[in-house]
Amino acid sequence: MSASTNPNPVAPGAPVRRLTISDIARLHADGQRIAMITAYDYPVARLLDESGIPILLVGDSLGRAVLGYENEIPVSMDDMLHHAKAVAKGARSALIVGDMPFLSYATPEQAVHNAGRFLAEAGLQAVKVEGGRRTARTIEAITRAGIPVMGHIGLTPQSVNQIGKLRVLGKTRDAARDLLADAMAVQEAGAFSVVLELVPEQLATAITERLQIPTIGIGAGAGCSGQVQVLTDLLGYEEWHPRHARPYANLRETILAAARAYQADVEAGTFPGLAETVRMDDDVIDEVLGHSALDRPGRSIPAGGIPLDRDL
Ligand code: KIV
Repeated sequence: MSASTNPNPVAPGAPVRRLTISDIARLHADGQRIAMITAYDYPVARLLDESGIPILLVGDSLGRAVLGYENEIPVSMDDMLHHAKAVAKGARSALIVGDMPFLSYATPEQAVHNAGRFLAEAGLQAVKVEGGRRTARTIEAITRAGIPVMGHIGLTPQSVNQIGKLRVLGKTRDAARDLLADAMAVQEAGAFSVVLELVPEQLATAITERLQIPTIGIGAGAGCSGQVQVLTDLLGYEEWHPRHARPYANLRETILAAARAYQADVEAGTFPGLAETVRMDDDVIDEVLGHSALDRPGRSIPAGGIPLDRDL
């Protein structure tokens, strides 16, 4: 996506307006494809904002991508809020969506409470909820409370223990009809957009054509209204990446090369050099260490008890 897609580009230092779900609806109505990226911390959120990405997702992929968890299941509200706060401080323009973690929306009451925390405590603008028809009532309760919701259907990582292997869903007639029904249910429940994860391209395109709200695809082909990628896949942190991802950088190599060069410089004594070093006035250090003319021989320990060079 070019920076011009963002109706509110971030110039360093300039005042900015936070994008809203109305801006996203306008982009969609104008036929603009919408780019979304996951973000987990302050410095990267600042850069993504400056790049003009209109939607940042504080995804529960946080667990695997940043916290070293095996999957999304152990990610807690505390984990999410901690990182959501940092992203909200870093990004001043993007609409920021917080992913409702596993068991944080088991009942509509609990869902409204936890969704509210993303807005009131972390400063985000919307939340994402996995599930289609099965969470439609929950989506409705959250949107009724005034909190914009992004749905998420297809492969829903929090259902890993039910689905088994993470795989493309919706390939059979019944599964495809289920996904269509899920998409309609999410829209009817009031969601402003919906993520389609690991869905065959033709089905994702058909869903996109039937919905009024934008679809944001990940592994769902080019027929969606927008795309989302996990930041660490996009930036090339690992040698492996999922088939649907395209690494736009190779940070793994960049970080390895930087760490190795730094270690070599430290070991060779060439870091820090003059450019990275602060010096003080030589007269002052001479005085401190007892080299100055004022230093009287015979006084072995000066005031303060600091041993002088001559006493060493
Ligand atoms: O948590 C996440 O990163 C997500 C995206 C894959 C949509 O849910």
